Order: sequence, then structure tokens, then C-alpha cells
Amino acid sequence: MTTTWTPGALAERSAALDDADPLAPLRERFLLPEGFVYLDGNSLGALPAAVPPVVADVVHRQWGADLIRSWNDNAWWQAPERVGDAVGRLIGAAPGQTLAGDSTSVQLFNALTAAARSRPGRPLLLTDPANFPTDQYITDSVARLLGLEVRRVPVAELPLFLAREGERVAVAGYSPVDYRTGELYDLAVTTRAVRRAGALMLWDLSHAAGAMPIEVDELGVDFAVGCGYKYLSGGPGAPAYLYVARRHQEGFDQPLTGWNGHADPFALSGGYTPAEGVGRGRIGTPPVLSLLTLEAALSVFDGVDLALVRAKSLSLTGFLLECADTLLSGLGFTVVTPREPARRGSQAVLRHPEAHALAAALTERGVVGDVRAPDLLRFGVNALYVSHRDILAAVCHLREATELGEYRQQRFRRRATVT
Ligand SMILES: Cc1ncc(COP(=O)(O)O)c(C=O)c1O
Repeated sequence: MTTTWTPGALAERSAALDDADPLAPLRERFLLPEGFVYLDGNSLGALPAAVPPVVADVVHRQWGADLIRSWNDNAWWQAPERVGDAVGRLIGAAPGQTLAGDSTSVQLFNALTAAARSRPGRPLLLTDPANFPTDQYITDSVARLLGLEVRRVPVAELPLFLAREGERVAVAGYSPVDYRTGELYDLAVTTRAVRRAGALMLWDLSHAAGAMPIEVDELGVDFAVGCGYKYLSGGPGAPAYLYVARRHQEGFDQPLTGWNGHADPFALSGGYTPAEGVGRGRIGTPPVLSLLTLEAALSVFDGVDLALVRAKSLSLTGFLLECADTLLSGLGFTVVTPREPARRGSQAVLRHPEAHALAAALTERGVVGDVRAPDLLRFGVNALYVSHRDILAAVCHLREATELGEYRQQRFRRRATVT
């Protein structure tokens, strides 16, 4: 059963929730345009205020003045491990198990191939039919390369599948949050089931890291990867991360054996000997500007309790659903995101046949969400900078844009390249 509130009560409630919000001061750690409601931090996080001065220093002093000496003097060489450990702190990884660099797609390819190679005799790779496309495409490609088969098994059907065919499964690669619907799956239950079958658990944490506490070490996760540009706010195309549990590092046989992952890269020898530890996950020369940008961005989490971030995120998405129940009723919307807090990630999703045009109309009104084809309007909340007043304003604009039929206007019906 859902509670419905009158519009006036919603305004009062949003103000009360914001006034009592212990995380409200964190919004100042971001440079957000005035009067803008930004609900797309699950795609591209907002700009942290700590970033521009660091980028200016990296460009002008470290690159411009110190030039190549910066690899040593400004510790550029150690950036993948150092920034990796900073991400590791957000996902419950003890130091020395997380690396930053390359894209999520590349990290997935490396991790999945290495994981599958370490389970010879097991012919199956599992992925979710609802997984993000890159995860599915790379799983298919790794299977072709290694002569394995892919089974697309929804999370809900995993226990049954593992009971039947678990002994044949090499790796299960899943995302804890459905990027379209926002549904959150139980990391602990899934990890346990996969490992009990003797298979390896690989999580794509892109839509979870930075939005909720995650404990990869404690849960016994084998491998994890994720984007640096969503809730971590590392900027467009920010480096991704790779987590390799310590127990797997010695046997981590990655396919992309670039010279940075060599035990002694500057010996420049003709044969590959992998480095000790997670450093063997390195590939080629790291994207230093982007790594140091991500490092500066991660300072937004300094002193922040992720349990509070999760609690506020649930309050924001829950409030959005309440606002939708009250303000959007009869306007053709359906709530897609699970209402049960334990099953909700950090986004609220509504279905509407005019989702594309409505998102465009909202953008013109200063409310940014996004759309996933064919008809899902996604509103991602980053609890570090989104308020309950933002949520109410977004839903009020959505109601007005729908009631006024703005979505019929030609300029909102053109599809942009990136949605
Ligand atoms: C779950 C998930 N994995 C991976 C990616 C993207 O990977 P890449 O950074 O390689 O583009 C996304 C992008 O939205 C995603 O949602």
C-alpha cells in the first residue's frame, strides 16, 4: 500500500527532510549550476569543486613545468594503484586489491578472461539478459575466444540454475543494480550462491559504488569492476577500476599483457613476467590527467559515512515515488523501480510512452534526467548533492510538461545522439 500526500504537504515534507539532512552541507563540494536539478549523476556525476584546481596544477605545473620528471617526482607512475586504493575504500576492499585505469569495458574483458582461465574444465559463463550491453557483448566475446558458452540467466533464476548446472559454471558476471529499472539485487546472497557452486563471482559495481556501502572483501567477491564517472564523479570518460581479491592475484592471467603490468617494466625485456600483486592488472601507460582528476573527485567522500548516503538515497528515491503517486496520477506514468527499499538502487524510474520527448522538455526546464529505450525515464540521485526539494521540483515540472502536452512540440521530438 502506498501513502499519498497532497501537493502542499509534499512541499512541507521536502523542506522538513532537507532541514534534517546531515549530508546537506556536502552539496558545497560540487560546482552545480544555480537553479539546476541534476538527476543524471548515475550517468555522469557532477563536477566536484576540488577538481578544477587539481587539473590546473597537473596541467601547468606537473606537465607544463616538471614534464617527464613527474612520473617520479609527482608520483604519476603509482597513480593506478593509489587511486585504485581510494576507490577500494568505497567498496570495502583492503589496500592492494584495486586498480584504476582504462574503461569498464576493458577491465571487464581482462577480469572475465583471467577469471575464466582460472576455472579450466568449466564451460559456462553466466550473465544477466538485462545486464548493461557492454557486459553482455564482452561475455560473448570472451566465450568465443576461450571456446566457452554463455548462458543468460536472470538473477532471480540463478539459485535454480546453479543447483542444476553449477559445476559447469566458470564465472558469473552480474551487476547489482539493473541500469534500466533501478532494481537492486542482493550481493551477499548471489555471491554466496555462485561461490558455493565453485564458480567465480564478478560484479560490475558501476551503479552501486559511491551510492551505498559495499563490502567486497567481507562478501568474498572474487572480482569487481566499475565506472569512475557515475557516482564517483570522476568526469567524462573517467578511468574505471578493477578489484582482484588478494587470493586470486598470483594466478591472475590477464589477456592484455601490456608492459605496465610487467614485474620490471623498465628492464624492457622481450618476454612477459607479470608483476606481483594487483599491479599485474595494469596494461599500458595510464591516462594520468584522468586518473588525477578522479583522485581529486574522490575527495568528496572524505569523512562521509556511506550508510548515511544510502539512507538519504533511499529517502530521495522513495520521496520521488510518493511525489509521482500524488502528482502524476492519471497522466500515463507507471512506476518501474521496486518500492521495497531493499530492492531499490539509487535511481527512480518511470515508464511513459513519451519518455524521450518528456526528458527533452524537462531539460529545457532545468531538470536533467535521462531515458533508456524505449520508454523509461530515469532519475538518478546522488545523495551528496541532490535534495528532496530538487525531487519535488522535478516531479512538478514533469507534471506541468505532461499536462501542457509539451512533448508534442517538434523540438522535443528530435533524438539526440546521446540519450
Ligand atoms: C553497468 C555498466 N557497465 C559498464 C558501463 C560502461 O562501460 P564503459 O565505461 O566501458 O563505457 C556502463 C555505462 O553506463 C554501465 O552502466
